[in-house]
Amino acid sequence: MAKAIISPSVLASDLSNLTAECKRMIAEGADWLHMDVMDGHFVPNITMGAPILSCVKKGVPEIFMDCHMMVEDPIKWVPQVAEAGGKLYTFHFEAVADPLPVIKHIHAHGMLAGLAISPQTPSTAITQQAWDAADMILVMTVHPGKGGQKFMPECLEKVKELRERYGWEKDVEVDGGIGPGNICQCAKAGSNVIVAGTSVFTASNPSDVIGQLRKAVDD
Ligand code: DX5
Ligand code: ZN
Repeated sequence: MAKAIISPSVLASDLSNLTAECKRMIAEGADWLHMDVMDGHFVPNITMGAPILSCVKKGVPEIFMDCHMMVEDPIKWVPQVAEAGGKLYTFHFEAVADPLPVIKHIHAHGMLAGLAISPQTPSTAITQQAWDAADMILVMTVHPGKGGQKFMPECLEKVKELRERYGWEKDVEVDGGIGPGNICQCAKAGSNVIVAGTSVFTASNPSDVIGQLRKAVDD
């Protein structure tokens, strides 16, 4: 079984105080911080880009930035995000003609590569070659574009299919609408990297929520 990695999404944090919010979550037990980069093209919203990531990295040098790139031209931003201190660069299958050269480019810039599928994309989009080349697969459990949406349990079928087809060597991340109420379903399907924005950042005791998410995956 793959070990739990809990990655709170900073989109749900107090963005006017981003560095302090990242530090707070690390102190509460977060393994990674999930940085949602939106370009206004792949999705309608615009959030943050490399200049902000770079400030966060300077303010919180120990951070593992799990960069979720909801952008229409993922290859374009690889050098800037690497330079800003991004550790994992996850781009969308729907944005590219062939994910393999993008994965190579990410690795060449010293980052881990993640490949994301949106709710409308079947698990078969992840070929054996893509599974082998990527470091992580992200199965979205909401339509990408904004935080605080309703969890789509039907997406978990794809996590199950990926585990059945390819096994447990790689990390499988889930993202969108996740919290203590549905973490058992996510864990049972086979995901081990858990993104949670609203449920963690609005909790009166985030370490307790992070602990519950971790326990469901590791037990
Ligand atoms: C949605 C983003 C998610 C989202 C998660 O486009 O990719 O990371 O912010 O936030 P919650 O947990 O609030 O759905
Ligand atoms: Zn995300």
